[in-house]
Amino acid sequence: MDDSQPEVTFVLGTRPEIIKLSPLIRECERRNLSFSIIHTGQHYSDSLDEVFFSRLDLPDPDHNLQVGSKSQGQQTGEMIIGIERILTEERPDVVLVQGDTNSVLAGGIATSKLDIALGHVEAGLRSFDRQMPEEINRVVTDHVADYLFAPTENSREYLQTENVPNNQIYVTGNTIVDAVAEHTELADEKSTVLSDLELTAGEFVLLTAHRAENVDDEARFADLLEGVTRFAKQHNLPVVYPIHPRAENRLEAFGLSVPNWIRCVEPQGFLDFLKLEQSARLILTDSGGVQEEACILGTPCVTLRENTERPETIDVEANRLAGTDPDSIVSHASAMYRRNDIWKNPFGDGDAAVQILETLDSELDLETPREVNQL
Ligand code: UD1
Ligand code: UDP
Repeated sequence: MDDSQPEVTFVLGTRPEIIKLSPLIRECERRNLSFSIIHTGQHYSDSLDEVFFSRLDLPDPDHNLQVGSKSQGQQTGEMIIGIERILTEERPDVVLVQGDTNSVLAGGIATSKLDIALGHVEAGLRSFDRQMPEEINRVVTDHVADYLFAPTENSREYLQTENVPNNQIYVTGNTIVDAVAEHTELADEKSTVLSDLELTAGEFVLLTAHRAENVDDEARFADLLEGVTRFAKQHNLPVVYPIHPRAENRLEAFGLSVPNWIRCVEPQGFLDFLKLEQSARLILTDSGGVQEEACILGTPCVTLRENTERPETIDVEANRLAGTDPDSIVSHASAMYRRNDIWKNPFGDGDAAVQILETLDSELDLETPREVNQL
């Protein structure tokens, strides 16, 4: 093998992909596998990008396509062109993509048209809502992938229903469990976010809302803010909202203001955000990853969407779907506020990264060094 030819190439572009691929990148380092990282540049603000590479101690990407914010088609198209060019030169054994963003779709399409194996991490999630760009990205990527790493049996069943061959599906748990396990203690030791924001553990609500179907729709965004404020006022709980730039830009464009009861802060680094999630009395969110983390950390969650591709969180009663109707938010948040029991984490044991690399090693004969083989 040529020295410049990596065994594994990661294609990533956004905050959740950096976080959820970090255990895999670390596992490659531990196994001494050669790898490269192609960053599409979908996220580029430091608070959504650089902060995660530096705080999670990840190597800098080998390539950054700097595609930036564009329309769906232009963004995805430019990424495909850039990724294809690099993969044609580097010819890795396998490309890994994670999740459901446009970067994942582009990585999936570019790889599947070359003679290079494609692994989709977090395969088989379905919201069954084709209005969401993420749902299209999930479905297409699953159907061009060679190795589908599903977090749960539920995801395996969705894939089987769509006739994906069972021998391509591996249920591994979700790498977010690995990432949470690796960082919660560190967050406890190092994060000063509670004192910085003058918050008391157990006495505040954590809000995130950034999803296009919520924040790009003025009426839905206003309803969401009203419902959250009404609930929080009733229970006299401050709300902290690390605000994604998409949401901030939409507020400005609509001329909407966030009620004083909700405190907007910059997007947080992973350790500080984990500390906020662990310490909140309740999490209100439209994020996919945050629903999972709330469930893993044992913090009750209410999802500000009409559907979820994480039904496992609802099944264990860690999460409820409220949509954005203010009455519905107040009612579901009040019910979850009263929860004080525990549930079982449905997303695996925190060894997803090891399972994924072992699968790829045995299927593709990646050049694992002998001392690691002997472990
Ligand atoms: C994308 C994903 C979404 C994921 C989210 C993670 C798609 C279709 N959407 O949504 O699934 O949940 O990432 O956070 O792939 N912006 C900045 N700085 C940045 C990036 C974006 O200011 O670094 C602003 C720009 O105004 C941009 C807007 O946010 O137009 C949206 O960015 P984009 O990457 O298109 O989608 P996200 O909402 O971030
Ligand atoms: N996150 C973070 N800081 C924040 C908000 C979120 O580190 O201020 C992390 C969070 O812990 C989770 C991921 O970002 O791991 C979720 O990303 P996001 O909500 O942007 O995307 P989604 O999961 O909805 O695709």
